[in-house]
Amino acid sequence: MRSKLPNIGTTIFTVMSTMAQEYGAINLSQGFPDFDCPERLRELVAHYLNDRKNQYPPMVGIPALREQIARKVQNLYGFSADMDQEVTVTSGATEALFDAIHATVSAGDEVIVFDPAYDSYDPAISLAGAEAIHIPLQLPDFSIDWDRVRACITTRTRLIVINTPHNPSGAVLNKADIETLAQITRDTDIYVLSDEVYEHMVFDDGVHESVLRHEELRQRSFAVFSFGKTYHATGWKLAYCVAPPSLTREFRKVHQFVTFTSPSFIQYAIADFMRECPQHAIELPHFYQEKRDTFCRLLANSRFVLKPSRGTYFQLADYSAVSDATDMEFVKQLTQEKGVAAIPLSPFYKKAPDSTLIRFCFCKDDATLEAAAHILCAL
Ligand SMILES: Cc1ncc(COP(=O)(O)O)c(C=O)c1O
Repeated sequence: MRSKLPNIGTTIFTVMSTMAQEYGAINLSQGFPDFDCPERLRELVAHYLNDRKNQYPPMVGIPALREQIARKVQNLYGFSADMDQEVTVTSGATEALFDAIHATVSAGDEVIVFDPAYDSYDPAISLAGAEAIHIPLQLPDFSIDWDRVRACITTRTRLIVINTPHNPSGAVLNKADIETLAQITRDTDIYVLSDEVYEHMVFDDGVHESVLRHEELRQRSFAVFSFGKTYHATGWKLAYCVAPPSLTREFRKVHQFVTFTSPSFIQYAIADFMRECPQHAIELPHFYQEKRDTFCRLLANSRFVLKPSRGTYFQLADYSAVSDATDMEFVKQLTQEKGVAAIPLSPFYKKAPDSTLIRFCFCKDDATLEAAAHILCAL
């Protein structure tokens, strides 16, 4: 059969997690916690499952959940989103990203993405018949070269995809970045897709600069968030997109035929939990900052050089003092021979630089981090 995605294999996250399992390695590769989601949330899920909330919920998400989302957006970003016209619940951020891309771009259009980029953007763009224009983030801090963005814009540019806090680098965009993006897209028909799944993981008293805070930019933006990340429940695949009514209308046309809706009982449970426990999200930056600091402290005497992680639950490490191997070879050796799985950076690039950086995920119990660090410090 002729492949529509000839250059796409299995995602690196699945490859490394499978390898970790096969070799019994400590899995610091794929981004999921090895601790559980809050007990109260599990109780609520069980309650609504047994309460027979088991049939199709509304296509756009249950009203109680969209109401909580709108309240949260108001509290955090000072923007009063209309829950009926601007908020849509989706089956994971992955679905929301796909829907937003397919709602906006057609064959022949161009989409700007920044490398290293989360690996779902490019295939979604290709499947829409559009072309991804990859702009590398600038080293050493993985910042955006806005002059280069200006130079890459053509009459065919339809969408710019940003991701803050950024997977895999842990970089965060600042207010000036958001303002520049607003200037660049002003008086154009370019839309913005803002992947903000790590909104609650910004450290060192930093601020998450959501596009929703920016009155002008939010008029042309799809902002995507994930409950999986916020509630330590990546397996539930529940997320949402906030976008102005005209964009949401088109977004929902795609969503309607991609998944139509998302598990009912989980929606009811999260709606209740958001109302009962708003402090969970508020405390998250502190919780993950402690994890980051613990992990960095544990690796302080290793030969890995750690890069600053300002957000997300990922930590980049330079392994050049440990090995001359390519990043792909190195993570394989690390997993198979030493027992710790990590993610190489090259698969996040269209054209990978000669990089000796790998990504560790620190959303793990301290005991897991200690066991991994014990191995890593001996290298
Ligand atoms: C940057 C980024 N966007 C989107 C996603 C997907 O989120 P979800 O699991 O809600 O589909 C991830 C998951 O790792 C991610 O890192």
